[in-house]
Amino acid sequence: MQIGFIGLGIMGSRMAANLQKAGHDLLIYNRTREKAEALISEGAEWCDTPAQLAQKVDILFTMLAHPEAMGELAFGDNGYLDNMKPNAIWVDCSTVNPSFSKAMAAEAQKRQIRYVDAPVLGTKKPAREGQLVFFVGGNKEDVEILMPYFEIMGKAVNHVGDHGMGASFKMVVNLLVAQNILIFSEAVALGRALGFSREMLFDTLLDGPMAAPYLSLKRPKIEEGIYEADFPLKWMHKDLHLVTLTAYEEGVALPATNATKEVFLQAKKSGLGEKDFAAIFDYVLSGK
Ligand SMILES: NC(=O)c1ccc[n+]([C@@H]2O[C@H](COP(=O)([O-])OP(=O)(O)OC[C@H]3O[C@@H](n4cnc5c(N)ncnc54)[C@H](OP(=O)(O)O)[C@@H]3O)[C@@H](O)[C@H]2O)c1
Repeated sequence: MQIGFIGLGIMGSRMAANLQKAGHDLLIYNRTREKAEALISEGAEWCDTPAQLAQKVDILFTMLAHPEAMGELAFGDNGYLDNMKPNAIWVDCSTVNPSFSKAMAAEAQKRQIRYVDAPVLGTKKPAREGQLVFFVGGNKEDVEILMPYFEIMGKAVNHVGDHGMGASFKMVVNLLVAQNILIFSEAVALGRALGFSREMLFDTLLDGPMAAPYLSLKRPKIEEGIYEADFPLKWMHKDLHLVTLTAYEEGVALPATNATKEVFLQAKKSGLGEKDFAAIFDYVLSGK
């Protein structure tokens, strides 16, 4: 099976590297070529366009920022979708909204291409260590073919339903992830104003059942105040936008999520977009 990988950012570059280390020859494309150099130096074949790559692969992984990026690379000049071989499988690991994901499944089907949505839980380090968790939507037979590749890049694979259901589950997860850190930040802001030390608040809140366990992993970044991005804040804002769009489409009221989205937008506009999303902590504390 010839594997292709499009989208070599924080996540995609590490996922592709694991496929490569496991012995798979890769064809790769990224808008910015520099990010592909490490993979090229290990033997991956660079393609000048998504179309060129698509013509040669049996399985195409995409790991792109958002639906707009996907639209450009799939349907734009030299896009991949019209150039894939019939019966090839397109596996989209990006975080996109379910209605977009289902539309992509339909576009693929029109061209006799098999589509699987497989967004991931886990950030830079799990991506590097092959410890991601996949939420997969698609046909059972296609998912079975993909299992060996998911197992190289991840530690768990949850086949949660038909096309679009992986993307759906990712909306549920990121709604929680975003709100947990915002509420934690507000709790610390109030605690500080009431006279508790930051250390006491962190030790107590993070040790109990009140705070989400993942927040302990963000503690070093917050304590050092250095927010090198594992998961850029701008993409968390994008995810909150996609969550609220999905809620609109489904007729579900999410008042707290909408408020959270606005805080993330304000933080992005204050210049924190490229930082890790844990920088929302500094944004909240700076206003208190
Ligand atoms: N980082 C995380 O912890 C994490 C965890 C789970 C899921 N995700 C999701 O995974 C996806 C990738 O995230 P990431 O953290 O790897 O982000 P990233 O480092 O910013 O990479 C984004 C990728 O999308 C490409 N891209 C962006 N805009 C584009 C455009 N207009 N046209 C063509 N290509 C474009 C980028 O190309 P360039 O290199 O040229 O910019 C890059 O390959 C996102 O959907 C994100 O929400 C991220």
